[in-house]
Amino acid sequence: RTATVALNTQRIVSDISPLIFGGFAEHMGRCIYEGIYDPASPLADARGFRPDVMKALKDLNYRIMRYPGGNFVSGYRWMDGIGPREQRPRRRALAWRSIETNQFGADEFMEFARELDTEPMWAVNLGTGSIQEAADLVEYMNLPTGTQFSDLRAKNGNKDPYGVKYWCLGNEMDGPWQIGHLDAVAYADKAVEAAKLMRWMDPSIKTIACGSSNTAMPTFPEWDRVVLERAWEHIDYFSMHYYVGNPNMNSKEAVDTDSYLASSVHFDEHAETIGAAIRLAKAQNRSKKDVGICWDEWNVWYRAVGGDGGWEEAPHILEEVYNLEDALVVAQWLGTFLRKADIVRIACIAQIVNVIAPIMTRADGLFLQTIYYPLMMFSNHAVGNSLDVLVKAPTHETQKFGEVSLLDATASFDPASGKGAAFLVNRSQTEALDVTVLWEDVAPGELTQAWQMAGHEPAAANSFEQPEAVTIHTIDVPKLDGGRVTLTLPPLSFTVLTSQHS
Ligand code: AHR
Repeated sequence: RTATVALNTQRIVSDISPLIFGGFAEHMGRCIYEGIYDPASPLADARGFRPDVMKALKDLNYRIMRYPGGNFVSGYRWMDGIGPREQRPRRRALAWRSIETNQFGADEFMEFARELDTEPMWAVNLGTGSIQEAADLVEYMNLPTGTQFSDLRAKNGNKDPYGVKYWCLGNEMDGPWQIGHLDAVAYADKAVEAAKLMRWMDPSIKTIACGSSNTAMPTFPEWDRVVLERAWEHIDYFSMHYYVGNPNMNSKEAVDTDSYLASSVHFDEHAETIGAAIRLAKAQNRSKKDVGICWDEWNVWYRAVGGDGGWEEAPHILEEVYNLEDALVVAQWLGTFLRKADIVRIACIAQIVNVIAPIMTRADGLFLQTIYYPLMMFSNHAVGNSLDVLVKAPTHETQKFGEVSLLDATASFDPASGKGAAFLVNRSQTEALDVTVLWEDVAPGELTQAWQMAGHEPAAANSFEQPEAVTIHTIDVPKLDGGRVTLTLPPLSFTVLTSQHS
């Protein structure tokens, strides 16, 4: 079977916001404790950070990091996590039925973010938390010394303000599972009041309101419409969450891997729906400003679903092991961010270590999950503009989405450096595709590198025993012929091709 992908460096969707390559670190399971902060490990440095974990995180080139939750944040008292460690309280974290020791908090997170060279994004507690506590936290993080909470920061060893720019107004407040859940009107009104105080404290901050937790919520997309309309003037971004899975794999029902491998059809539609709600709210508010999508929780999650921590510290919960087909879905999701680059301006994979994460650790080492590789490829190579790619490819019928192209293709081009990249997923489980990529306007001077991840077994996964069962490999760079190149994409594969234009 054959396909063509036509690229034109002048036909662009939008510039790519670097902040779409973000992560999310929540106080749950072993994400913080035994994940990014692991002082008991023989590998840890004096701060409790592990060089192996930091290197694996750095290679993902995260530009923004959301913290400290998630469901956790809706019961979190941020002042528990500052000051001398021996005086910090142990508490029950009700969201995940775990024990929170508070040995890692605001100042440790800022040290972590600095080390990772990533922009911090803080979520405030709008569950049990008050609008005053939210404003106090902004004072602690962002104000020059001279007032109570900024002086407290200095006393804790950090005289200079941190200047945290991005602030989430709560988490998944539409969900009945959320501590302090509210209806859309009550949430919007609380978010507005919190944002007002937070911005009075520091007018330079950007605020992000909660959208629906997922598209299956009975209140989706009415929640989004109401919150956007009421909170419009007080927000800069609007959050989306979504997790996907292939649950039939573990049940007696027919396995529907073809539909799972077409998940980006749903991701595209989801972004379009929220984009439409944003446009509507803009018109309703007779507004000139724009609000961007902040897709601040996204990932594959359906196997390790039990969130009961059994009142333990750092319980082993949500330790999903990812396989080849999950990596192909993650690659498509990143493709959605490029296709919708004009509206998706921030995105954070949930989460970064151990908990539904690309990196899995134990005290003496780590392994990289399959989903690590598409993240690394996109975050390191998708720069500049997202191109409006023309794809001609065979289709196949799927139960959930009808006729779907076998090829999911996206591309970027950076006019400043002349670097280009094409990201190609062959969704077919059985058929190879001979794909011709052609540059319609200017041919690249050279194709610089090519990588491929492929396999015959969609369920193949990595583990401590077999850490490289599924990885990405460099392949021979195909030969440019004028402005075009042809390469074969095996079934179940993800291929990246980079180019240099003079
Ligand atoms: O990322 C895991 C959880 O998923 C988060 O705490 C919550 O916001 C979402 O439901």
